[in-house]
Amino acid sequence: MLNKIGVIGGGFIGGVLVQEIARRRLAREVGLSDPAPFVNPDDSEERQETSRKQSVAKGKCLDIAEGLPTIRSDVRLVGSKDYSALAGADLIINTAGVPRKARPDGTFPSREELLSINLKVTSSVADGIKAECPDAIIISVANPLDAIVYTLDQRLTPPKNKLMGMAGVLDSGRYCYFVAEAANVSVENVSAMVLGGHGDTMVPVRSSCLVGGIPVTKFLDEETLLAIETRTRKAGGEVVGLLGFGSAFASPAWSALEMAEAIIFDKRKIIPVCAKLEGEYGVDGAFVGVPAIIGKNGVEQIIELDLTDNEKEAFAKSIAAVRKTCGEVDEMLG
Ligand code: 2OP
Repeated sequence: MLNKIGVIGGGFIGGVLVQEIARRRLAREVGLSDPAPFVNPDDSEERQETSRKQSVAKGKCLDIAEGLPTIRSDVRLVGSKDYSALAGADLIINTAGVPRKARPDGTFPSREELLSINLKVTSSVADGIKAECPDAIIISVANPLDAIVYTLDQRLTPPKNKLMGMAGVLDSGRYCYFVAEAANVSVENVSAMVLGGHGDTMVPVRSSCLVGGIPVTKFLDEETLLAIETRTRKAGGEVVGLLGFGSAFASPAWSALEMAEAIIFDKRKIIPVCAKLEGEYGVDGAFVGVPAIIGKNGVEQIIELDLTDNEKEAFAKSIAAVRKTCGEVDEMLG
């Protein structure tokens, strides 16, 4: 159990995170920070006064706290509209930002199209972390994932092991789920990794995909596997299109908790995470999804896979796409 976990952003993912941290008893205290609802200067003074008194973070914390006796959990919950609820956190999970949302015609933006708005949010998040818990390990979930992690690195310059992004667990979980469904076996039997950036260029690594320890090609034909890999790359959008009001939240929250538990319990578990490459895979200075040993110090070690030629080519394309978005970050931050 950690002393304190801070969650930034009290939206759907943040809400599941706080509930699960309380239910799994992962920390003595959880701090939830979210500025909503904003005070709109165009509103009447009376309405502004009401917005000042309201707080999504405090409301969610109180709601969950009132259920603690029922689930027999003694976790302390604090919410704030500023970043003060994060004070002294050992671990931060950052979900702050606008999610993808289906437009009235059913289309939806790419994760990269969220960059300019979420970059502003991330600059404020970085200031909050710096002020309240500068030594915390950070797991970031906000999109566009790899570029937001890069931005946090630029703003906070933390040790390499202390900053990572959550995408690989989610993308790999989607890949495994589709394979289990097609092979008609338990999801517990399937293991696989999706690497690279958390965008349409992500790389489902077929050579890592095993069903009960046996290569997936023994169970599924080429056509089925290609369809599953294409669906995996677009799986986040599939949920956005179906939900209409936002993006996936239960599976991203559980995925971030998979990483958090590996840190909290010093599991030294091999998990695909967005981590800083400094020469690994022949790449320098980019944040992309790679397998890593995750333990009490965060990213303990990056593991270099022997990729096939096709996988190497796809991985290089994915890194190029991530670098392009990070270039936009550099331009926007001046
Ligand atoms: C997803 O892929 C939210 O990026 C997240 O669903």
